[in-house]
Amino acid sequence: MNELHRDLESLLGAGKVLGGDDEALAPWARDESHCTPVAPAAVVLAASRADVEAVLRYAAEKRVPVTPCGARTGKSGGSIPAPGGIALSLERMDRVLAFEPDDGVIVVEPGVITGRVMELAEEAGLFYPPDPNSWEMCTIGGNVAENAGGPRALKYGVTRDYVLGLEAVLAGGEVIRTGRRTVKGVAGYDLTSLLVGSEGTLAVITEITLRLVPLPREVRTALCVFADAQAAARTVAAVLRAGILPRTLELFDDQAIAACADSGPFRFPAGAGAAILAETDGDDGEAVMGALVRLGEIAVEQGALEVLVAQSAAQRRDLWATRRQVSSALKARFPRKISEDVVVPRSRIPEAIERFKAIGREHGFPVATYGHAGDGNLHTNVLFRDAVEAPAVEACLSALMRATLELGGTISGEHGVGLAKRAFLPWEQAPGLIALQRRLKAAFDPLGLLNPGKIFSSD
Ligand code: LAC
Ligand code: ZN
Repeated sequence: MNELHRDLESLLGAGKVLGGDDEALAPWARDESHCTPVAPAAVVLAASRADVEAVLRYAAEKRVPVTPCGARTGKSGGSIPAPGGIALSLERMDRVLAFEPDDGVIVVEPGVITGRVMELAEEAGLFYPPDPNSWEMCTIGGNVAENAGGPRALKYGVTRDYVLGLEAVLAGGEVIRTGRRTVKGVAGYDLTSLLVGSEGTLAVITEITLRLVPLPREVRTALCVFADAQAAARTVAAVLRAGILPRTLELFDDQAIAACADSGPFRFPAGAGAAILAETDGDDGEAVMGALVRLGEIAVEQGALEVLVAQSAAQRRDLWATRRQVSSALKARFPRKISEDVVVPRSRIPEAIERFKAIGREHGFPVATYGHAGDGNLHTNVLFRDAVEAPAVEACLSALMRATLELGGTISGEHGVGLAKRAFLPWEQAPGLIALQRRLKAAFDPLGLLNPGKIFSSD
């Protein structure tokens, strides 16, 4: 047992601190990104806000870095600890503190699983729309820290659009409450929005007040199958231009379809080189179906080979299970793949897909592009199998990022910058803007102890 472990245990009591044994700490060394794992010096399993306050007071006194974390399903290294630092897990803080259907509000601790928020809402006829792929296991605190998105963001927006207020502990242990419990509210700077997506660098969030919306009564699902990704990408822009706002427009390219053929429950028809999983929703069943039919007609105008409308809950489930398996199916074929989450203006998606594939070819790698095409948010994956290829992969990623920015896009739509993309941030944002953000960071965390090294390169 080292000094850090001993100190933390005497502060918090037994059963809340792990340390000393590398194997026990290993799960906290990594997330779901390709970033190099870093084992923390100790893990604290906080059970209350008081625990978080005590850890942050201690950390300031001893100058120990602290990285908050939830279920560690993040994709950008945001929850990977700093060397010698504390991993501050909020997973045990998983209580629902208040649920007020009449106000459309739920107040939760950060360790509540996102899927539980969705379920509670739905039981009361309400809807929590943000649906990151990992919703069955990720925590709402992690979603808030990274401002997670997902397929339904096209119509309903991302996590930030549902966070009304927060309670958080600042570096040093001071507790703040931001925002409100009402739908409207403009008093003061919008610090709630600043904390959402701040990747654990500004404060440790200990309570989250979320807005819920009415649950749409009808949802219809279709898969539009294309010979190639260009026709699929053109369909996205054409559908939205026609005044239809589906709740999802999810793209599969040829690589994604090939990978799903190995394992996915849904069998794509022969000749499928791309597909769009589209869903419309609302309260009027006929109108919802009408919008889906019109969407299918537009897909056919753009060259769709087939439009398959899900006829049962089971068919819908298979389509979504297949979509949700794309990442793991690609990984089964290419164990070292690197997944990006770039965004381009949707009119540029056809060009982006072509350029990304061409960049892959130039560097010798297949590239898969799938994901939330409706909002231009593309999971572009560089596919490879062997670690020796890593330097060439880096060059390929850099070229992808340059191309994204040239197309008027951004380096991250939903996974955050973390460690994975911090080298690219200065390509997107001017030095003055980065300097201003560093000053904000210093105002919240003058000693630089909260999740150091994330978002901004530590030069
Ligand atoms: C997805 C994750 C990778 O949409 O964001 O599959
Ligand atoms: Zn995604």
